[in-house]
Amino acid sequence: MRRVLYPGSFDPMTNGHLDLVERASKLFDEVIVGVAVNRTKDVLFSLEERAEIIKECTSHMMNVQVKAFDGLLVDAIVNYKVNAILRGLRAFSDFEYELQMALMNRSLNEECETIFMMPTPLNSFVSSSIIKETALLGGDYSKYVPEAVSAALAKRIKGIKNND
Ligand code: COA
Repeated sequence: MRRVLYPGSFDPMTNGHLDLVERASKLFDEVIVGVAVNRTKDVLFSLEERAEIIKECTSHMMNVQVKAFDGLLVDAIVNYKVNAILRGLRAFSDFEYELQMALMNRSLNEECETIFMMPTPLNSFVSSSIIKETALLGGDYSKYVPEAVSAALAKRIKGIKNND
């Protein structure tokens, strides 16, 4: 059984993230999307909300599971019994941070391997922060995110604006 963990904060999931999950689901027996707490980021959606939205976005793939976790990635790979961590590389600028993270994780657990895949270049400029900023400023973000994310974002932004 080849099982991979794709971790991220996914606040929210974009088409770039979904593209990577779809590619991985063809290569691995099981893909676990690990929705993580990133203490360096402020979030728009709670951990539970993000996990629920991703479940909706990935429901067409039978070998994809979604798990929310708070803690170290190296502990999550032991808990979920995965063979490797999957990360996306969109541009050279991603590399340095990814290398640092992969080596730190391997230093914490020498069996922790990280595999990199490239998402489609079509979405290489998209990030969760860019989507949130576009949405908050009234721009059209719908073609960069899955439908479930688009609906959740519209609802959240409306709620924020009504409270202003
Ligand atoms: N398509 C589109 N965008 C992508 C992408 C893809 N394929 N892959 C990454 N991105 C974007 C993300 O949306 C994110 O954008 P944002 O900064 O605007 O939100 C950005 O690239 C960076 O993403 P990422 O590096 O994946 O950060 P993250 O917060 O999503 O995930 C964790 C980082 C969760 C993996 C990391 O914090 C972690 O491992 N946490 C657990 C604690 C731990 O073990 N820490 C020690 C790690 S060494």
